Amino acid sequence: MLPEYYEFYNPVKINAGREALETIPYELKLLCAERPIIITDKGIVKAGLLKFFLEGFKDSNITIGAIYDDTPPDSSLETVNEIAEIYNKNKCDSIIALGGGSAIDTAKGVNIVISEGDNDLRKFMGADRVTKPQQPFIVVPTTAGTGSEVTLVAVIADKKNNIKMPFTSNLLLPKVAVLDPRMTLTLPSKITATTGMDALTHAVEAYTCLQKNPMSDAYALAAINLIRKNLIRATRKGNDRKARFAMANASMMAGVAFSNSMVGAVHAIGHACGAVAHVHHGNAMAILLPYVMKFNSDKIGNLYAKLLLSLAGDDVYASTPKAKRTRKSIETVLLFNHRLNKICGMPVKLKDANVYEYQFESIADKALNDGALLPNPKELNKQQIIEILKEAF
Ligand SMILES: [Fe+2]
Repeated sequence: MLPEYYEFYNPVKINAGREALETIPYELKLLCAERPIIITDKGIVKAGLLKFFLEGFKDSNITIGAIYDDTPPDSSLETVNEIAEIYNKNKCDSIIALGGGSAIDTAKGVNIVISEGDNDLRKFMGADRVTKPQQPFIVVPTTAGTGSEVTLVAVIADKKNNIKMPFTSNLLLPKVAVLDPRMTLTLPSKITATTGMDALTHAVEAYTCLQKNPMSDAYALAAINLIRKNLIRATRKGNDRKARFAMANASMMAGVAFSNSMVGAVHAIGHACGAVAHVHHGNAMAILLPYVMKFNSDKIGNLYAKLLLSLAGDDVYASTPKAKRTRKSIETVLLFNHRLNKICGMPVKLKDANVYEYQFESIADKALNDGALLPNPKELNKQQIIEILKEAF
């Protein structure tokens, strides 16, 4: 059934596939930019990706204005301001983020500070508080999970006040996302698995949350189909270019989907597991997804039943009686987790991800205050969140 009203917006140009990196100098020219800052991290340097990336500029008219390669795993206010200063000092005119969610979110924060001409990022926290047109911004993701290259969201830590600040604005959307399979070939198998499960969670929650719409549905289903066929392959054999490229596409499509609908309780509880017990985001998503699906299933079992076709493929869908498809979808996600666990040791239970039972109360309290809980298709109270945590333990 179509919603009475919906909005959908995705202006990000996607340059995807073989030698996609080589299009960047031309894209910068189209954006009237010639002196970008590169925002990346030490892991990318160590993997040799920065060096490889820079080679693409050798025969171009582009001058790299500055390189910041010290982005921490959690973007912070201090890092954002430090990079903004480097940007201004070196007279840069554009930003390229090369990395995973943290480098991309940091770059979005830097863009706000530079474009607004104000180094107090806290003023722009929340929805639609960014007012000025942003600097030309290109993203090259090196993981396949966050979808941050096509989302209007950034999360940046205010370490002094111990909070994670969310920023949402269409102005934060990059101008170009460059998906080049060469950029994810060296990603370790465990990170491939957990970031892939994050992408799957984006797609499942986008397809089932209260703000779903026909456009986000289409992207979510396409993403799930690609993940079914490629996540195990990419985790098992990292240098499988086809599987890597498919996962990069899946992650991007799931990003477009949830940027235009929302996520739900898996993300709310997962964020809280991260804050209280430092569980890696993708890990928390993988562990919690099947148990939140089980909790939601009396309300939206029909949607999970439909998802079985994308989650498990035609044969399983056709051979599963209609009344059993919801349960089969949940079992399929559990099976996915167990297969990934066998390949790379990805934890499938909270107790294996350094979560302790005494932390359930504070995880539940934090989850109740998380904005991602609002569009979940079924309301949750504290006790219900604790029950989900117990099942996932
Ligand atoms: Fe996520």
